[in-house]
Amino acid sequence: MDFVEQLKSSIDIVKVIGEYVRLRKVGSTGRFTGLCPFHQEKTASFNVYQSRQFYKCFGCGVGGDVLKFVMEVDGLTFPETLKLLAERNGIPMPKRAEYADPESKLRGVLFDIHTIASNLFEASLRAPQGVEARAYLERRGVTPEMVQTFELGFSESSGQALVRRLAQERFTPEQIEASGLVRKREDGSGYFDAFRGRLMFPIHNESGKVIAFGGRAMREGDQPKYLNSPETPIYKKTSVLYNLHRARDSMRRLNRAVLVEGYMDAIGVHTAGVNEVIASCGTALANPQVRTIHRHADTVIVNFDPDGAGANAAERAIPFFIEEGMHVRVLALDGGLDPDAYVKQNGAEAYRTKLGAAGGYFYWLADRARAKFDMRSADGRMDAFKFLQPAIQKITDELERAAIVNDVAGYLGVDASLVLERFRKSANDRRPEAPRAEPRPQIPALERILLNALISSEEARVEILPRLADSLTANFTTREIFITLRHLVHDGAQPDDGPQTSSSAALFSAVETRLVGSNQTLLHEVIAADETGDGSFSLEQARSCLRRLELDFQKRQVDQLRTRVRTAEREGRVEEALGFMAELSRLERELRVAKGG
Ligand code: UTP
Ligand code: MN
Repeated sequence: MDFVEQLKSSIDIVKVIGEYVRLRKVGSTGRFTGLCPFHQEKTASFNVYQSRQFYKCFGCGVGGDVLKFVMEVDGLTFPETLKLLAERNGIPMPKRAEYADPESKLRGVLFDIHTIASNLFEASLRAPQGVEARAYLERRGVTPEMVQTFELGFSESSGQALVRRLAQERFTPEQIEASGLVRKREDGSGYFDAFRGRLMFPIHNESGKVIAFGGRAMREGDQPKYLNSPETPIYKKTSVLYNLHRARDSMRRLNRAVLVEGYMDAIGVHTAGVNEVIASCGTALANPQVRTIHRHADTVIVNFDPDGAGANAAERAIPFFIEEGMHVRVLALDGGLDPDAYVKQNGAEAYRTKLGAAGGYFYWLADRARAKFDMRSADGRMDAFKFLQPAIQKITDELERAAIVNDVAGYLGVDASLVLERFRKSANDRRPEAPRAEPRPQIPALERILLNALISSEEARVEILPRLADSLTANFTTREIFITLRHLVHDGAQPDDGPQTSSSAALFSAVETRLVGSNQTLLHEVIAADETGDGSFSLEQARSCLRRLELDFQKRQVDQLRTRVRTAEREGRVEEALGFMAELSRLERELRVAKGG
């Protein structure tokens, strides 16, 4: 087995994908479904087939094995994916499988540089030069445990520490510059650290690798308050959420996320025992981030700073979540405190109570509207209602929308029937759902049963494949798949080591990679139709399918011969007619035996 096969056979696709997508087991089958991470959808059309170690989305058509999934969802190259999965599963990588293409190579180096930088910053915080930073943290109630958990660090003010540290490694100047952590002097005389004299917050990707930093100034008035890494080949701001790699398991378990604005908020809230907290880090929320949150949770509680900027950001974020089909609640803390300050001032328990009581977003929006408009006049109340309209219009579920309209109308003191009329109209204007996917191809049951049996079971391959001549499958929709399968098995490609599921998964994947276009899609449909997912039932069914095929074939031959006999007789070729008749009676005898048996 080569390394790729070995890696694939030692990890389970359900477990890996389950860390990125909430999967639900379908009945007692080996099939799991969830929301597709590759396109926006509200009902699950994304499937993972355990026995085939394969995923398929029938909404957008994507499908593949565990490697392809991780590549696409994490935006990694193939070698990076191998490395990541190998590391995570404690499987040693063979040397020659080093990063191959220049892009992966650079990204691999950037990951290394960030790990080195993070270690350096942590060490500096513990060292004598970190004394001011340690005092600052203590003043702000950040304990040594929190420092350790969040891998906080300090960038010393000389501006040479990281430059010097990186010079000890064999990185090229281009690589070091591409990290965004050092900058070139204007006069070209060398490099200096981008972060100087700052408290350092490492930012991780979903897999837990450091990909960027936020650095906070420690003196009042130092600008900017936070300096952040620029975008690099490993840091795309629109898809990163601070603390996601620590939060994602809790997010899936609790089916909710708490979204805060700042690094310090995430740390404070996490320390209050709310592990499902993530931070947007002051940037406007973007679709990839929203979709990432939704992969792990259906409910989001938005807990931004209570100032005007925070409220505006929350107001802008809400429609994104609604459009994504998520439940949105808003926590507005009293006393003008941001989440971190609230926890420090009132304690973890008080914060968690507040969180539990956070109301639906429309109440919060209604409060915003009340403050904006003159609620004493009927016009003002209607204006307040109009203010809410865009958000409510995005609710796709009609019953939910009607219920919310009713609630909000009551809350604002407007006539619900007036308002309902308005919403019925706007509901009709709502843009339609994303266009339906291509119609799925239909595959005859007989072909599905045979293919699933052949892929699942060695026994079926030994018994059935030799009898399944080309002439029997010539009219199949899935003819090409049978041909490919036959070639693979004939060439001895079917792995006969390992447990049943992994060998059938390997065979499946071998067939899959050898098919192109519509034939690949057909194979996906075949797999989707195997609801048992383990193929155990199907040998008996496959046998009877084969018998039926053979019978049909013989019947066709009999019919053909009868026609030939008649033609020969009509044309007076007696010899020939007699020959055909002898063959015909032999075939008919066989057919009777076959039918009886
Ligand atoms: P805040 O100003 O609310 O900071 O900005 P904070 O997180 O509460 O931090 P403390 O408590 O003052 O130390 C919220 C987030 O906005 C981003 C940072 O991600 C910050 O955590 N931000 C803020 C910047 O990127 N640059 C800035 O200059 C300020
Ligand atoms: Mn803040």
